[in-house]
Amino acid sequence: GEHTIKAVRGSFLDVTRTVEHPEEIESALRYIEDGLLLIRNGKVEWFGEWQAGKEKVPASVRVRDYRGKLVVPGFVDTHIHYPQSEMVGAYGEQLLEWLNKHTFPTERRYADLDYSREMSSFFLKQLLRNGTTTALVFGTVHPESVDALFEAASHINMRMIAGKVMMDRNAPDYLLDTPESSYQQSKQLIERWHKNGRLLYAITPRFAPTSTPEQLEVARRLREEYPDTWVHTHLCENVDEIAWVKALFPERDGYLDVYHHYGLTGRKSVFAHCVHLEEKEWDCLSHTHSSIAFCPTSNLYLGSGLFNLQKAWRKKVAVGIGTDIGAGTTFNMLQTLNEAYKVMQLQGCRLSAWEAFYLATLGGASSLGLDDCIGNFHPGKEADFVVLEPTATPLQQLRYDNSVSLIDKLFVLITLGDDRSIYRTYVDGRLVYERT
Ligand code: GUN
Ligand code: ZN
Repeated sequence: GEHTIKAVRGSFLDVTRTVEHPEEIESALRYIEDGLLLIRNGKVEWFGEWQAGKEKVPASVRVRDYRGKLVVPGFVDTHIHYPQSEMVGAYGEQLLEWLNKHTFPTERRYADLDYSREMSSFFLKQLLRNGTTTALVFGTVHPESVDALFEAASHINMRMIAGKVMMDRNAPDYLLDTPESSYQQSKQLIERWHKNGRLLYAITPRFAPTSTPEQLEVARRLREEYPDTWVHTHLCENVDEIAWVKALFPERDGYLDVYHHYGLTGRKSVFAHCVHLEEKEWDCLSHTHSSIAFCPTSNLYLGSGLFNLQKAWRKKVAVGIGTDIGAGTTFNMLQTLNEAYKVMQLQGCRLSAWEAFYLATLGGASSLGLDDCIGNFHPGKEADFVVLEPTATPLQQLRYDNSVSLIDKLFVLITLGDDRSIYRTYVDGRLVYERT
């Protein structure tokens, strides 16, 4: 294949290993003030001090010099709906009314392949201009929506997980599949896209209320036939939703037990929200090594509640950050972390800059089971990274000049940052976004 070598110089920050307690993150951090990242064929070839590595740069290779900026691993968004980009900030209502009034009519448009293609392109550009290089993505019920998204992601060889929504009840007819059609369509998409380049497939029942037991049985069958795929769904987001699940599945021992009964918990099962978990549900997530996507802007916007991140650490349940567009209100991970900090504040806790940074990079990757290929700058990992500009606005400059330590500077970047903080984004070793 193609042999390309790239060299990037600048200040680098990453977390070198996954941790079980937030207090461990600091000892796992690696900050290199003047560093060198050498990339060969889209993978990290060498990473370390510029002085130690500069001789390794071939004479023919031009060094990208980002000194004065901060280079970090690409952000990982562990829960997002691409077919809700056009309805961000829809006014009023909590989850169930919001779905009926705003979400379902919007998702209807994705029956059209051309529309799906147009929006896929828009969506990927939004991710990249916000420094997000990997995402776990909901499509719609229409297989066309997923074909369009994977097609677009394959053009830049992005590490992305997505799936067709399975939903066969409790939504408008135009958005329903059947157990049989959802099986056939999901299977076809898995065969076409799973492990095609860097693309990966997630079996995606929308949430328990929109699937019959027969369809959940189908989801189980898919997971058994394709054990290396992901499972992606929603769990315990809203109190009315939880009451509804209990009424629909009286034979099950609570909301999570519906998924657990159908074999949908486990490694590489990602449950969005988990705002109102019962003790037995925390334990089930923990014992099955399932993961949670914490979606602060969405949980605040829909008035769903406050996610208990401390408890997730205590229970050893892996957590990543999700923007949850379009209930969430931003594609930007810095802004999302800023809201996560406030969700913690409202519970009398803190979210340190180190922890926030971990969740958005290696921790998020780990929650998706992708920490072997992305999340930091270890040699052999995929070269997805972001060049951050901590002083993109006059206020940020002022505040930066008045910060002393690295942790202060990083915290202020998270609190004041947005898409203007994203100077460059690289995917697979290639420049894919440049702020203008
Ligand atoms: N639960 C089921 N579907 C959805 C959705 O589209 N967004 C959110 N936030 N929650 C859901
Ligand atoms: Zn969602």
